[in-house]
Parts: sequence; C-alpha cells; structure tokens
Amino acid sequence: MDDNRIKEILLTEEQLNDKVTELAKTLSEKYEDQNPLVISVLNGSFMFCSDLLKKMNFPLELNFIQVSSYGNSTESTGSIQISGNRIDMKGRRVIIIEDIIDSGNTLKRLTEYFGTLGADTVETCVLLDKPSRREVDIEPDYCGFKIEDKFVVGYGLDYAQYFRNLPFIGVLDETKI
Ligand code: IMP
Ligand code: MG
Repeated sequence: MDDNRIKEILLTEEQLNDKVTELAKTLSEKYEDQNPLVISVLNGSFMFCSDLLKKMNFPLELNFIQVSSYGNSTESTGSIQISGNRIDMKGRRVIIIEDIIDSGNTLKRLTEYFGTLGADTVETCVLLDKPSRREVDIEPDYCGFKIEDKFVVGYGLDYAQYFRNLPFIGVLDETKI
C-alpha cells in the first residue's frame, strides 16, 4: 500500500486467510449441530466475520451489534455504548465475533449483557489479542493472533474510520497522524 502512515505489515492476507480457515474449522467442530447465534461486533469485525462465516457451512443465525468506545483517538475511553436492535437470545448459544481485544472492557460488558438477556452460553472469538493491555479479567475463547502493543489497522480495523479496507493488518505510524 502506498501510504507512509503504515510503517509495517504485521499480518499478510495469506496469514489472515490461513488463520481464519483454522478458526472456522475449530468453531465448526464445536457448533455444527448447535444452531448458534453469531453476533458480529460492528464496525471492526465486519471483514473478519464475513470471511469466517463463509467457511462455516452449517445452520447459524447472524446478527449485529454496534459498540463504540474509542471516538477518534487510539486510546480507549473506558466506557462503552451498545446499540442495535434488541436480539432474542433466550436459550441460545451465542458466539461474539470481535476484531481485537485490548483493555477487555468491550467483551467483558458484552458477555455479561448477553447473559442478562438470557443466552445459554456466550463464547468470544477475536482475530487479534493485545494481552499486555488488559484492564479487566477476560480471555477470549478463540483467538487468531496475540500481538504486541502497537496500534494496528486494516482488515476491518480503523484509525478514525479509515484503513478498514486494507486486506492486511498494518502497524500505524503514530508519529504521522
Ligand atoms: P477494548 O474494549 O479495550 O478491549 O477495545 C476493543 C476495541 O478497541 C476494538 O473493538 C477496536 O475497535 C478498538 N481497538 C483496540 N486496539 C485497536 C487497534 O490497535 N487498532 C484499531 N482498533 C483498536
Ligand atoms: Mg471494535
């Protein structure tokens, strides 16, 4: 990509594709006869979730939820807002699909919230994990890659709503933004 604000390609398209295939296989083995309810956390997980679901060939329901916490900076504000249609989760086996777990606030809140809506089980599947940034006690059930504490963009992840369309994961040069 011809943009000097991306200083490094951390994960190539091929690496992402291989990992998505592996995660889809793991999820399929567990959920193929469970009629799960997949919840894609917008906006960041749209590309990951789309690629993942194309490789999960069994009956499942898909819905979306929007969560915002970041504004336009690279630091979490700590509080999150959940929006979207009310989804009937009673007795369902829910799989939350998220782009990245950072402080852990988003997935912790969502997991608890879905429990209060009556979900039978709630599991989380993330593409990326920055374990060194965790502020609350939560580990994803399925994870693509553990990464260092660098601000990454692409494959759905944004900086101020840009870069989501990159087919790879790149590291943003924070001195150039
Ligand atoms: P958490 O609530 O702190 O775990 O934050 C999770 C959310 O922060 C993700 O869904 C992303 O939207 C955003 N986020 C965290 N790290 C990054 C990053 O490196 N690049 C882009 N977005 C990020
Ligand atoms: Mg997000």
